[in-house]
Amino acid sequence: VESWGQVDLHLDLDTAPGRTLRARAEHALRDAVRSGRLPPGSRLPATRALAAQLGVSRGVVVEAYAQLAAEGYLDTRRGGGTRVADHPAPATAAAATADDDGDPPQAAATADDPVLSETAVSPRHDLRPSLPAVDGFPRQAWLGAITRILRTIPDQRLGYGDRNGEPELRAALANSLARTRGVRATPEQVIVTGGLRDSLPLLWRLLSDRGAKRVGIEDPGWWRIGRSVAEAGLTPVPIPTDDDGLDPSRLASLQLDAVAVTPAHQFPTGAVLSPSRRAALVAWARDRGAIILEDDYDAEFRYDRQPIGSLQGLAPDLVVYGGSASKTLAPALRLGWLVLPSTLVAELHEDDPSSPAGTPPTIDQLALADLFDRGEVDRHLRRQRQRYRRRRDALLDEIAAQLPQIDVRGAAAGLFAVLLLPTGTDEDAVVAQAARHGVALEPLRARHRAGLVAGYANLPEAGAAAAVTALAAALTAVVRPATERAT
Ligand SMILES: Cc1ncc(COP(=O)(O)O)c(C=O)c1O
Repeated sequence: VESWGQVDLHLDLDTAPGRTLRARAEHALRDAVRSGRLPPGSRLPATRALAAQLGVSRGVVVEAYAQLAAEGYLDTRRGGGTRVADHPAPATAAAATADDDGDPPQAAATADDPVLSETAVSPRHDLRPSLPAVDGFPRQAWLGAITRILRTIPDQRLGYGDRNGEPELRAALANSLARTRGVRATPEQVIVTGGLRDSLPLLWRLLSDRGAKRVGIEDPGWWRIGRSVAEAGLTPVPIPTDDDGLDPSRLASLQLDAVAVTPAHQFPTGAVLSPSRRAALVAWARDRGAIILEDDYDAEFRYDRQPIGSLQGLAPDLVVYGGSASKTLAPALRLGWLVLPSTLVAELHEDDPSSPAGTPPTIDQLALADLFDRGEVDRHLRRQRQRYRRRRDALLDEIAAQLPQIDVRGAAAGLFAVLLLPTGTDEDAVVAQAARHGVALEPLRARHRAGLVAGYANLPEAGAAAAVTALAAALTAVVRPATERAT
């Protein structure tokens, strides 16, 4: 029988970046896997043996193995030793997760810290809430569209494109958004961007040029909204949300010039803004002359409830509608859009050479327009909806079976559900412990309750049982001792 201790592995901790030994060990290991020096399936030395060889304590190696397992590079099987995962994380993964402080990125991932959701790492149990099912990307349709565009695009259009977006895509978006979301806009009101994250600075600058100072943001909410407001020199004002989303009655005395909301499916609580609150929000904005940003990031996906039209459709003169191909197709496309009230279109980058931030590639814009025009986007969404419903049902069934005490919220739409934890539970500890069990998900970070945000888009049905078993083990490790201490 081969002894684990005899597996030889050369790691150079002296040249690996990182402040702590553990960070250097993680870096060196990750590098060995990524470079192919340790191919998929290879055995790693036993932790004790590697620690002795490197002259570090065993804990350093144990932690490094656990971290790399959470990132999907290693497979740690009980009694089976540690091996390089069969499908180790892609080569682009490490840069964004390499953490020179030696802290596991999962432990550091918070609503203010995008590390977890936006790295290219593939965890063993992928419950990251922000990704669509990337295995469902319509590769053939996209290939067909790109091919058609390349065959037909005239040479003149290979110069600089329209700074507001290509006319074909703006028309296709105006048309599709009117049909599917009740958005009321002409193509001239549609601005193509590199995703919502590029739309945000553009919008805040437009508002700031008008004299805006204070922007209400949902609390909890997507960290990028608040940060982008602050980066634009405006003041983000957190507004607590509850089970019905943002409460407009809280806006009265806050002197806001704008408010950013996710009415169709609040991120991250999953709440739906009720009809009376939608009306009250619009009335407030009209009264104050304020602008509403509607982040409609995942409204295409709903399962057990009636479709809810966009807020923009209720007040096209007050609402800026923000959309993105990131959930419907894939974040890798980097395509998004803003629908602006006509008054704001008129104020767009007059003489401003620096805007918009960067118009996406003409060829990609035309390809997306082509897919819309051929009905391929609708077809893809129908397929994805079915896939999400199956994956969601599998996850919820497993939670009901294995974790019946967990209260699940926000699962009627979107790509994630909220798993409420006993009040006072240390969410970060659960998320960090889950990462050690190979489960990637996010803390809820709500004021009055503890919870986890669990995505199911990339969790195939066959993987749901194992994912929930791993999550249950992590919960037991964190929640039970805490409960025992309390009693
Ligand atoms: C709340 C929310 N809105 C919008 C987006 C889309 O962002 P982008 O279009 O920049 O990919 C995301 C992506 O994670 C999100 O979480």
